[in-house]
Amino acid sequence: MTQDEQKRSAAEKAVSMLPRGEIIGVGTGSTVNHFISALEAIKHDIRGAVVTSQETEKRLRQLGIPIVSPAEAGRLSVYVDGADEINHSLQMIKGGGGALLAEKIVASIADTFICIADESKYVSKLGKFPLPVEVAPFARSVVAKALIRMGGTPQLRMGFTTESGHEILDTAGLDLSRPLTMEDNINQIAGVMDNGLFARRPADVLVLAGKKGVEIISIGTH
Ligand code: A5P
Repeated sequence: MTQDEQKRSAAEKAVSMLPRGEIIGVGTGSTVNHFISALEAIKHDIRGAVVTSQETEKRLRQLGIPIVSPAEAGRLSVYVDGADEINHSLQMIKGGGGALLAEKIVASIADTFICIADESKYVSKLGKFPLPVEVAPFARSVVAKALIRMGGTPQLRMGFTTESGHEILDTAGLDLSRPLTMEDNINQIAGVMDNGLFARRPADVLVLAGKKGVEIISIGTH
């Protein structure tokens, strides 16, 4: 299976795991795009979706699935999203697509976070993928200096503005061996809107597609 076929397999498996007749949360990215395509088969059983980006919204609207705000939804039983990296504790780096702020908000109102990923994303140690840090443009250099003091090498994502009007500093070199502490420490820098570490709210279930097929991993499986 190619990487793209793996993404599609994980996405199709996640669709088969969804509750019927409910509002679901939907993330952003190429794996999620496969998930949305696979949703077509059961779209009449999806009451609505809370979305994390305009791209996801557009694709769900094309299927005729109603878009619901987080306020209207209250709580979600399930949120489905991809990751840039996910470790064996199901903590993740996300934000490669720049939607991390909305993703973190929607994940926070979900009872179950199902991460869908191809095997290249499953790592024993987070940090090869530069950590996206979303900043208010006014604070860019202040935050960059703080990240350098923390051991990182921030690089402005050129020509990119998030849907909330912020910038992203892709930050390599940070020691992410304690993801929860690092997530909190970065978020305490004034001007940081959020960062792509999902340690405080990790995934609950990982649907991982590899060359030999799809595996369901939850905390305790490994
Ligand atoms: C979007 O901002 C990200 O968090 C994505 O969930 C992540 O980048 C995974 O994307 P792919 O499925 O395209 O690899």
